[in-house]
Amino acid sequence: MSTKVTKIAVMTSGGDAPGMNAAVRAVVRACVFNNIECMGVLRGYQGLIDNELIPLDSRSVRNTISRGGTFLQTARSAAFRTPEGREQAYKNFKANGLDALIVIGGDGSFTGGMIFNKEFKVPVIGIPGTIDNDIYGTQFTLGYDTALNTVVEAIDKIRDTASSHNRLFFVEVMGRDAGFIALNAGIGAGAEEILIPEENLGIERLVESLENSKKSGKTSSIVVVAEGDKTGKGVFELKDYVEKNMPEYDVRVSVLGHMQRGGSPSCFDRVLAGRLGVKAVDLLLGGQSNLMVGINNNEITAINLEKAVKLHHDINMDLLRVADILSI
Ligand code: F6P
Repeated sequence: MSTKVTKIAVMTSGGDAPGMNAAVRAVVRACVFNNIECMGVLRGYQGLIDNELIPLDSRSVRNTISRGGTFLQTARSAAFRTPEGREQAYKNFKANGLDALIVIGGDGSFTGGMIFNKEFKVPVIGIPGTIDNDIYGTQFTLGYDTALNTVVEAIDKIRDTASSHNRLFFVEVMGRDAGFIALNAGIGAGAEEILIPEENLGIERLVESLENSKKSGKTSSIVVVAEGDKTGKGVFELKDYVEKNMPEYDVRVSVLGHMQRGGSPSCFDRVLAGRLGVKAVDLLLGGQSNLMVGINNNEITAINLEKAVKLHHDINMDLLRVADILSI
């Protein structure tokens, strides 16, 4: 049996992603629209443990739609992994008169939400926010589209200098376990080769491909490497290997790093944030819990949180073939 929801807490948790502020704003305004209260939890689950919460109303989220990062701030809380930490978090949750929680984050954050729900029966809804796009149950996570555009813009600039000097660049992009950013930004930026964690064709094949590029008249090249790629032990090893085996190449490395997580969200991410935030509040008011909202074929959907955490969002491997054809 579900209790009536009259006060919702919203938090951002795990790695930040552009569009998180827009999602908080959407949650707050959907609460105001439905005449219920909303509080923001600072620094994810850690803020719940430390009782750092702020009341949020319509005006308190003004001018946030275009801001990157998360004004609620975020953290990966070790204390929330302990039963004592969660007990304290629940005490504060009740003391603030809260009766439901919306978590904006990735699968680690959703696992925390599931445990909180299981132990204290707190209704929880997840909104997928991570630049990695590696969450099952949604075709797009918040921040992914913005990160892709950031990476493409950066590689376009690298291409300018690469072609001026006839150089080969290895560009490392984020993605510990998933190659969504590498593959899609790689195609978007016209990379010669794209190396992703989901596929390891070996370093020899990379050398062969670079040799073919050279023979076909290419004077400069861009190789996009996801940080979790297993072709070498990282992008600098790839550089050393190619330099040793192909001395004709002048090789440079560029690690894009955390700049990929910043910046003003794209229009796509802002609209997605709005739709997901409104849906999350609708679900709670409809007495639903333990769900993650997502977007599939342009419809806003909801799946069981456990499914979202346990199942794998597979990359479309056909894109590798497309990348191969386009880089001829
Ligand atoms: O999960 C998002 C992500 O940006 C990954 O792509 C990256 O590997 C990781 O976070 C970096 O984490 P941190 O900010 O803790 O260094």
